[in-house]
Amino acid sequence: MKIGPIQLESPFVVSPMAGMTDTAFRRLVKRQGGCGLVVSEMVSSEGLIRGIDRTLEYAEYTEEERPVSIQIFGGEPAKMAEAARVVEQMGANIVDVNMGCPVPKIAKHNAGCSLMREPAHAAEIIAAMSKAVKIPVTVKMRKGWDDGEINAGDLAKRVEDAGAKAIAIHGRTAKQSYTGCADWHFVTEVAKTVSIPVFGSGDCIEPEDIISRMKSGVSGVYVGRGVLRNPWILAQARDLMEGKPARSITDEERGQFLLDYMNLLLSEIDGEAEGFRHAPSPKPQAREAVGRERWVINKIRALCSWYTKGFEGGAQFRIGVNSAKSIAELEDLIEKFFVLNKIVASA
Ligand SMILES: Cc1cc2nc3c(=O)[nH]c(=O)nc-3n(C[C@H](O)[C@H](O)[C@H](O)COP(=O)(O)O)c2cc1C
Repeated sequence: MKIGPIQLESPFVVSPMAGMTDTAFRRLVKRQGGCGLVVSEMVSSEGLIRGIDRTLEYAEYTEEERPVSIQIFGGEPAKMAEAARVVEQMGANIVDVNMGCPVPKIAKHNAGCSLMREPAHAAEIIAAMSKAVKIPVTVKMRKGWDDGEINAGDLAKRVEDAGAKAIAIHGRTAKQSYTGCADWHFVTEVAKTVSIPVFGSGDCIEPEDIISRMKSGVSGVYVGRGVLRNPWILAQARDLMEGKPARSITDEERGQFLLDYMNLLLSEIDGEAEGFRHAPSPKPQAREAVGRERWVINKIRALCSWYTKGFEGGAQFRIGVNSAKSIAELEDLIEKFFVLNKIVASA
């Protein structure tokens, strides 16, 4: 399938997740296979225009992630067009607009999901961006603002007319946040009304969920929390799509993923990262502000809160991770939980 001229080798996408889908994590998921597109965490249009180091850090990516989409947020057409130009100059394949974030800090600035409440203005943003850049402009939205304002269908048509090349819809309202279930019936109904690809998003936790959603009539599936719990889920979905059994993942592989993630993060800090299209910024603020080791520990903690959900002994492991004070301590915990547990179990 294609988004504008960009060919995706699989319809399965790593959904944008603030604080989670950094370049290191995206690379590791991509390496497992089955992933057609990765989307960055949301990046401030203001920050991009002003060249703020911390913002540039969030937009970093490497060649092996391609095709890569950078998601931006903001509410002013001219600024969003300018930010899209920055993204294009950074060499990204796609620029995506966040029209789904319900967090008040974002939504109160006429950005994120509050754009859904002003559909004509939202379409103006897409028109301005589409005029400013050659790379495809895409939109990620929700079902609507709340049950009284369900308008993804109307907005989808408007942004298509304004030049958007694909849409992703998370089948919940902003008011719902993450409660209830994603409404895939709604998403597939909207997909019938536009001619650009429509991706669905929400609640794919098992590879089988992805396959059944694909069959419902969307062009592709964005997977968020499912990837945080199981970075192999897209590869497993592709196995199923090809009629093979989903590959099984050993505890050692799960442990190794965390160690690899830690090593990639550390190599970025130490300036040893290879393949950065956009050189790590000279003043890496997000990383330096909290100190080298602490930054990596915080990242591992954030991932582990999803990664070991539902695992036997997972809660105990997370307590350990949350009180670990050094990388060495984390490595030891990971080894004990994922490798030694298995030895004990199979002895
Ligand atoms: C921790 C977290 C951060 C997220 N950050 C973003 C974001 O920056 N931009 C965005 O469009 N959606 C964001 N989302 C929403 C997801 O991309 C996705 O649409 C939503 O979680 C539903 O899909 P899922 O059930 O597969 O997770 C975030 C979700 C989570 C859980």
